[in-house]
Amino acid sequence: MIYILNLGGKRLRPVLTLMAAEIFDCSHKKALDAALAIEVFHNFSLVHDDIMDDAPLRRGNVTVHEKWDINTGILSGDAMLINAYQLFENYDGPVFKELAQLFSRTAIKVCEGQQYDVDFEARDNVKIGEYLKMIEYKTAVLVGASLQMGAIVAETTGECKEAVYEFGKLLGIAFQLQDDYLDVFGDPESFGKQIGGDIIENKKTFLYLTALAEADELQGRQLEHLYSINPPETSGKISAVKSIFESSGASNLARKEIEKYTTLAFEVLEGIDIPAHKKELLRNFGLLLMNRKV
Ligand code: IPE
Ligand code: IPE
Ligand code: MG
Ligand code: MG
Ligand code: MG
Repeated sequence: MIYILNLGGKRLRPVLTLMAAEIFDCSHKKALDAALAIEVFHNFSLVHDDIMDDAPLRRGNVTVHEKWDINTGILSGDAMLINAYQLFENYDGPVFKELAQLFSRTAIKVCEGQQYDVDFEARDNVKIGEYLKMIEYKTAVLVGASLQMGAIVAETTGECKEAVYEFGKLLGIAFQLQDDYLDVFGDPESFGKQIGGDIIENKKTFLYLTALAEADELQGRQLEHLYSINPPETSGKISAVKSIFESSGASNLARKEIEKYTTLAFEVLEGIDIPAHKKELLRNFGLLLMNRKV
């Protein structure tokens, strides 16, 4: 637990919780336990995700299940999930209840999204709509919840709580699209994860589904064949898939899709009843995420 938490990461979710508290006129100090709970939960999900994805690298270091073993990954992950719940015990009455309810609702969706992600590896008829629902569940709802927790602690209006959640959810969809893009096209030095890991695991990402839809028949068949090759025979698979992602136009379309969801998030942000300079803070955060390399 100490190992994975000390590897750091961007910590964007707790930052969003603290920002939301301040944006709705509350000291960020009141939101520290909720922010920590979100980050500890996120780290739990990463340790278990790395087992499911058979990932060797996380944040530029060896993953927990490879440094120790799978059981250590399962149990330290479980304990972090419980620790996250315990942190909500530091809130009282209605705020506690609202935080705990949002957290449970969100955590269940993350599990459901992770199951779709794994199921899709073995399916060859996944639709873009199914992919979008999968990333909404496994990733975006937690980004929405991070912001809504700050709003709950600040005891703002129901309308503001909903709007900031919606903003975060759309930003979270853009964030996962970007993660999938960087998994293929990122710089191994800065990204901190194995480049091409999603290709090795036959992940049905936006890049894959779009390439399949856009490629000519021959390229499409090549891509499907490449996605039927499994470890240890994956040498050459990553570069071949990568070049189809580029030549089919899927990589450019993925950039456009990231921009589309970021813009949709900004439209929701416009409608929130807060001063313009506060909207600007969240907008700049969104722009940073869209252009990130890590
Ligand atoms: C990784 O999240 C998991 C996804 C939802 C893509 P982050 O990219 O926020 O990971 P860290 O915490 O910064 O390492
Ligand atoms: C993980 O998605 C989402 C969760 C951890 C819930 P990924 O499998 O794409 O995340 P990374 O790329 O391993 O960080
Ligand atoms: Mg993963
Ligand atoms: Mg995964
Ligand atoms: Mg990923």
